[in-house]
Amino acid sequence: MTATQPAASLTAAAIHPSILNADQAHLADELHRISSADGLHVDIMDNHFVPNQFGGPSFLETVLANSELPVDAHLMIEDADRWAPDYAEAGAAIVTSHVEAAAAPFRLAKELHRLGAAAGIALRPTTPISAVEHVLGEVDLLLLMTVEPGFGGQSFIEAMLPKIAAARRLVSEQGLELRIQVDGGVTAQTIERAAEAGANVFVAGSAVYKADDALTAITDLRERAAAHLHLG
Ligand code: DX5
Ligand code: ZN
Repeated sequence: MTATQPAASLTAAAIHPSILNADQAHLADELHRISSADGLHVDIMDNHFVPNQFGGPSFLETVLANSELPVDAHLMIEDADRWAPDYAEAGAAIVTSHVEAAAAPFRLAKELHRLGAAAGIALRPTTPISAVEHVLGEVDLLLLMTVEPGFGGQSFIEAMLPKIAAARRLVSEQGLELRIQVDGGVTAQTIERAAEAGANVFVAGSAVYKADDALTAITDLRERAAAHLHLG
């Protein structure tokens, strides 16, 4: 764990809005709309790992210049070992790489910690938990995709609930202080089941940005999650 990690997030329900589907032409206003969030989720896509392109280190710097929130950068990019450190240097509090795209996740986690960032590891929906079992002790956050990565506004894949529960069991068995983040299709209808299964950090794009009042949506999501939190 690093100094950049808010300690409260380990045991509380944290809501991290994703700005992927925010109005990019009014980024500062869109960031202001979610100022009560616990963190900000910035998706980065390279058009190779996923069929979409978004963000980059300079975009992250622009976001940081316009928000007080700690940023978790979700890198949906190939060759994460090569590019992830740039996001730590740009100021992300947490840099999350996909295990499918990281050749040396142990070395990468060390490098991110050396640069002062927390390290996250992410799994596509079909990648089993066993792919990260041995690296969990080295990272600060496990991101479980609950949609196929690449786009906002998709439906939560219900079949991911047992996977979240299996991840939570593994984290408790190993006695780790690790946050479990879910990303994709998190709404007022799905967040309670994700919390019950064992997630404690919730990315919400459409559920926050499509709401008339984003601050109320954040509070509602946080309360629903907190009431069902199951940390094992
Ligand atoms: C999808 C991204 C998500 C996305 C979530 O690949 O990683 O962060 O923005 O959006 P919603 O909450 O609308 O599914
Ligand atoms: Zn994401």
